Amino acid sequence: MSREAAARAGTNIALVKYWGKRDASLNLPAAGSLSLTLAELGTTTHVRFDDRLDRDEVQLNGVAADERTARRVAKFLDLVRAQAGLSARAHVRSRNQVPTAAGLASSASAFAALALAATRAAGLEVTPLELSVLARRGSGSAARSIYGGLVEMQPGTRADGVDAGAHPLLPPDAWDLRLCVAITATGAKAIGSTEAMDHTARTSPYYAAWIASVDADLAAARAAIAARDLRALGVVTERSALRMHACAMAADPAVVYWNPATLAALQTVHELRAGGVPVYATMDAGPHVKALCVQADSDVVQRALAATAGVLSVLVAAPGPGVTLLPADAEGAL
Ligand code: DP6
Repeated sequence: MSREAAARAGTNIALVKYWGKRDASLNLPAAGSLSLTLAELGTTTHVRFDDRLDRDEVQLNGVAADERTARRVAKFLDLVRAQAGLSARAHVRSRNQVPTAAGLASSASAFAALALAATRAAGLEVTPLELSVLARRGSGSAARSIYGGLVEMQPGTRADGVDAGAHPLLPPDAWDLRLCVAITATGAKAIGSTEAMDHTARTSPYYAAWIASVDADLAAARAAIAARDLRALGVVTERSALRMHACAMAADPAVVYWNPATLAALQTVHELRAGGVPVYATMDAGPHVKALCVQADSDVVQRALAATAGVLSVLVAAPGPGVTLLPADAEGAL
């Protein structure tokens, strides 16, 4: 049996945000979420189990991972080993197809690619839903990157979390959406999403209201997607992001991800809209602004964002496929 495998996953950007957990140890979300998987930004990962290793070896973008990341990956591999009845440690090599300096490297594509590569290398046969549920243990947003296009994550109701996984809503080629990513800073984010959402849940007086608002946003987003109604989807997208950030800003001490260019880019999106271009903004656990529009408007949106004060560059990403297996010899590229 070959004990190695390689996989690639696209990152995803949530249109209805996940921000809060109902169980931290199993990484169960407190509410559902909905996202768009991207073609251009993602992670390629190769895993090889090797009996001669006495610990997991993790390499990211050609260099040894820091201790914290290596521990997180080893913990995830323990889940795969337990399922497969395997004790061998693994050699993991992973590369992000995102400008690392922009702080866009994402745990979503990383754990989706790792989940597929590691389960295959361990000889496990898993369904896409089982893979999504497994990827969630690594990072909540990773559960969504198992699928391409528009994807919904279910929070599930079971204590063991086996029903907390994602399912696809619309394939990547079914709607010519684009996400224009305005990079507004270099370097890593101030506070990671895991820590920030826990802090928000414990200290923000708006947290309960935020969680209570998610189901209605999901229903509205689902209906908008079924009708291919960008305006309706965009309204929910912007509302969900602003509510998530408002909730985090109300934490004690506050979690503020924005910089002046974030607001300037948001303003640009509003001005474009006032001028008749249907474009809607979302922001994650960082200062970058992601603008949702259709392909036909993406040049106009890209140019306007690039001309915005403080915006360093703008990437345009199309909807992309779910996680895919690569030939194991793709390792050479890593
Ligand atoms: C703002 O998936 O990174 O991007 O489950 O703790 O790994 P963990 O959190 P993570 O959180 C993503 C937060 C977000 C919104 C989203 O992607 O839904």
